[in-house]
Amino acid sequence: MAKVDQNEALFERAQKTIPGGVNSPVRAFRQVGGTPRFVAKAKGPYFWDANDKRYIDLIMSWGPMIVGHANPEVVAAVQKAAETSFSYGAPTEGEIELAERICALMPSVEQVRMVSSGTEATMSALRLARGYTGRDLIIKFEGCYHGHADSLLVKAGSGLLTFADSTQNAPSSGGVPQDLVKHTLVLPYNDVAAIEEVFKKQGDQIAAVIIEPIAGNMNLIQPSKAFLAAIRSLTAKHGAVLIYDEVMTGFRVALGGAQSLQGITPDLTCLGKVMGGGMPMAAFGGKKEIMSKLAPLGNVYQAGTLSGNPVAVAAGLKTLEIISREGFYECLTGQTEKLMTGLKAAADKNNIPFAVDSVGGMFGFYFTDHVPTSFEAVTKSNIDAFKKFFHLMLDEGVYLAPSAYEAGFTSIAHDNAVLDEIITAAENSFKKL
Ligand SMILES: Cc1ncc(COP(=O)(O)O)c(C=O)c1O
Repeated sequence: MAKVDQNEALFERAQKTIPGGVNSPVRAFRQVGGTPRFVAKAKGPYFWDANDKRYIDLIMSWGPMIVGHANPEVVAAVQKAAETSFSYGAPTEGEIELAERICALMPSVEQVRMVSSGTEATMSALRLARGYTGRDLIIKFEGCYHGHADSLLVKAGSGLLTFADSTQNAPSSGGVPQDLVKHTLVLPYNDVAAIEEVFKKQGDQIAAVIIEPIAGNMNLIQPSKAFLAAIRSLTAKHGAVLIYDEVMTGFRVALGGAQSLQGITPDLTCLGKVMGGGMPMAAFGGKKEIMSKLAPLGNVYQAGTLSGNPVAVAAGLKTLEIISREGFYECLTGQTEKLMTGLKAAADKNNIPFAVDSVGGMFGFYFTDHVPTSFEAVTKSNIDAFKKFFHLMLDEGVYLAPSAYEAGFTSIAHDNAVLDEIITAAENSFKKL
């Protein structure tokens, strides 16, 4: 009798009580097809699925697990915190320690408010920016994801003039009123002329510009220096709040986040993922002058029963302690670059158009000749080749993000032996493409 595939059995069961069988859509493998792997356990750079097959994990929970799965030091910190209850709904000293550490690592953050997800962080930062400026309009960039708050789920129309006309916006999700997205302008990433044009026309109405300072939700896309400089100077000139959404890049691309690599001082920063070490923990923070508009000091309301949760704080604090140790980012960056060089060499051997990029522990690879610089360019890469490669790698025991529009993530546990295994798997897979 054929052995039952436990992933398939679980997926079938899950779909009866959970919409699509998953609690976050991209886990469903819709872009690549096939059955999602149900995780039974994980350790270091690996996880094991319901069939007890081992995979090298190159998603690491979409970023947070930078010190490896079930890192013993983080596990011990969490266990200790859990012994004295999971939640109090009253302040703790640990929250102050975490806030102090974040402010020390990211000097643009003078004060910080903790929340439980990246979505909450960006949603709250936008409300704060609107409350602070007394304006409604926000600018986001095509291909950047900032969580699923209503006003951020907007697709752009086509053509520069349409981009600048928010009445043409189509929400990219059902259930989002047109009335809300009319306050969101969507511009192309890396397009200096587009943002200059919008500020020229509507600069006095813009509350905030929100950006992924290194985009990771349309694969990995880096901004040009000129683009960042234009955004910083235009927002400052017109009194708009610059929000760096570092939910993904914060503590992942460098200890001080993307802003430390780019030399940009944003007004507000959103954090998540790594700062909670895999626990539901996120934050937004920035200039004291802006943060003091938040309740209970100011009139911008924001709250959360589980905000600053003590178990999540313990995981976050320990993770930040580990990543602050000397040599951590040199090692992580070097290992990630080595992985990318290996993948590129394996593709070249097989004459497959393939490009790679990485910053710190975040990487992108593209089935195209050049590293793309916009959402449009990413969509022109060979998505069919990606899908085949994804499944071949999965068979080889390497778990990549199940979408060509996502960045990948390494951890400090991805050592040379693990990298060699991934590169051998890629060589085998490219041969079969
Ligand atoms: C840049 C960015 N901002 C915000 C979010 C939303 O965070 P969460 O999924 O924790 O709500 C994400 C999630 O991937 C993200 O990558």
